[in-house]
Amino acid sequence: MIKIAPSILAADFSCLGEEVRRIEAAGAEYVHLDVMDGSFVPEITLGASVVKRLRPTSKAVFDVHLMVEHPEQQIDSFAKAGADIITFHAEAAVHAHRIVQDIRAHGCKPGLALNPGTPLAMAEELLGDLDMVLLMTVNPGYGGQKFIPSMLRKIKRLRQLLQENDITADIEVDGGINADTAPQVIAAGANVLVAGSAVYGAKNIGQAIQTLRG
Ligand code: DX5
Ligand code: ZN
Repeated sequence: MIKIAPSILAADFSCLGEEVRRIEAAGAEYVHLDVMDGSFVPEITLGASVVKRLRPTSKAVFDVHLMVEHPEQQIDSFAKAGADIITFHAEAAVHAHRIVQDIRAHGCKPGLALNPGTPLAMAEELLGDLDMVLLMTVNPGYGGQKFIPSMLRKIKRLRQLLQENDITADIEVDGGINADTAPQVIAAGANVLVAGSAVYGAKNIGQAIQTLRG
């Protein structure tokens, strides 16, 4: 079962509530919320107060992607704001296992994100504790970048690792996912697809979501 997570980074920020309602009505399972701090990545996007305001507009799963330094300091506020899944970057975490436990203690599902250049080994010891591994298929920081094809092998290796160890964690991919790359990442083993420009840039977003699903 493939889930589609449109990234509101590509939405019209002047009417975010309406933009969230549109994708839910068009059949998206998740709303992907990209949190950037101007330090882990150059841009600054949105914080927990925005997520809190958006929460009543949608019943979809709120999939918060923290691209921030010191993710441990953000768990409480995003959980209270209504996040369902909280994903943080392995590269930004000193005590990743503790953060995973804290996310769960807050009643949310923990995800761990890896940049394209970060080996799978950074997630390996935690796989059994995670609900999701997010493999970045571009370098984080901006929407609308080109998919990095060598990530297909990484997705396959992670799927194999999960299967060998009987772990049911989701594999989410993020960056450059469109009608061309979606079938490739699905074939490699991804089951949650983030898409910013491919959804919000489409004339018919319902059709765009169906196309990504395959
Ligand atoms: C990039 C973000 C992505 C981004 C994806 O750092 O994490 O979620 O919005 O945008 P597209 O789908 O346009 O590559
Ligand atoms: Zn993202």
